[in-house]
Amino acid sequence: MKTDVAIIGAGPAGLMLGHVLRAAGVACIVIERQTGDYILSRIRAGVLERGTVDLMARLGLDARLRAEGFPHGGFNLADGERLIRIDVAALTGHSVTVYGQTELTRDLMDAAEPRGLEVIYEASDVALHEIAGDAPFVTYTKADTAARIDARIIVGCDGYHGPSRRAIPDDVGRTFERVYPFAWLGILADVPPCNHELIYANHDRGFALASMRSATRSRYYVDVPLTEKIEDWPDERVWDELAIRLGPEAAAHMTRGPALEKSIAPLRSFVFEPMRHGSLMLCGDAAHIVPPTGAKGLNLAASDVHYAAEALIAFFQKGDADAIAGYSAKALARVWKSERFSWSLTKLMHRFPEDGAFERRMQVAELDYIASSEAAQRSIAENYVGLPT
Ligand code: APR
Ligand code: PHB
Repeated sequence: MKTDVAIIGAGPAGLMLGHVLRAAGVACIVIERQTGDYILSRIRAGVLERGTVDLMARLGLDARLRAEGFPHGGFNLADGERLIRIDVAALTGHSVTVYGQTELTRDLMDAAEPRGLEVIYEASDVALHEIAGDAPFVTYTKADTAARIDARIIVGCDGYHGPSRRAIPDDVGRTFERVYPFAWLGILADVPPCNHELIYANHDRGFALASMRSATRSRYYVDVPLTEKIEDWPDERVWDELAIRLGPEAAAHMTRGPALEKSIAPLRSFVFEPMRHGSLMLCGDAAHIVPPTGAKGLNLAASDVHYAAEALIAFFQKGDADAIAGYSAKALARVWKSERFSWSLTKLMHRFPEDGAFERRMQVAELDYIASSEAAQRSIAENYVGLPT
């Protein structure tokens, strides 16, 4: 097979990019290791920046998002019994939209066939070749048959564990990483949310987050030591911990119920530079990871897609090679700003084992400053809704 752009990975980044390129008349094929059902089974954050909503709208794929998503004009920082509301709408003129990543991915998947976007699922042994030249290709196996796709450009949208980043030579690539000394235990339950907006809580016993998927489905998190096992956390223990950490007001409105899903995930900040080498470009988790505090992962994938599509369309429609060459610097400028916001909110709202009394005082002083300063709140708000691309 031959195409203009071979996209590896059919998560949000790969599917968003495929749709944008297809709509612009740039030929592309998406190659995915898993089945569509497997991809949809992954529970991920669901707070969309305005840029992500706008991208779905430009694709004409925002109908369900508009009908079922929840516009949120604010969110809350809880520090013990104090609740600091960040009035995002008033401070920025924009809101975020609460809409599960699973649902956004479903919308992109369902539109692929009707729009002629070719997605090859269950492709194994995917490998990248000749990425330093102008005629790269991808090989893979499908139903025990070896296959090859020749492309002008390959875009790695294959997540943190995919092969694309690893195809860039060690003497070219550079990584920046912070692994956090705790993990998040998440629980999904068909119970109404305890609050109409998100609550990020910093309590003496640790971090908690109250989020939601709908008016009848809630998503909660507590941070736990890296050594914890999910079998040591029966539902009741999770609900008890949430009730303490979120504070009495939230606890009074919290409805308990059986976990539909419960899992523990570690946190890291990670950036790989450059996001382009030769004829290979990277988008999304293939190039960077953020801690989930602030829900930037999916939105950063959308941001990369915005810049990658802009460059690829200029290249294929106008022969503008500089656009491809300029992609990495443009994408990374916004990646690092989101990495900073996610890292700073993680630092503010979690207790680090190595921290002492001074660091706790710094957290309290910063929360006092945020509570008393419109400028401080505006800074948080403009990062939360999404910096301009
Ligand atoms: N061959 C083909 N596909 C692969 C391979 C491979 N060797 N390795 C991984 N993939 C696929 C995965 O199965 C997955 O469907 O690449 C896709 C990567 O999707 P994501 O990991 O979701 O990454 P991305 O599309 O960048 O979206 C980032 O997703 O994981 C969340 O928290 C993350 O919200 C963020 C968002
Ligand atoms: C979620 O709803 O799963 C969620 C929301 C906000 C976050 C992380 C996760 O920062």
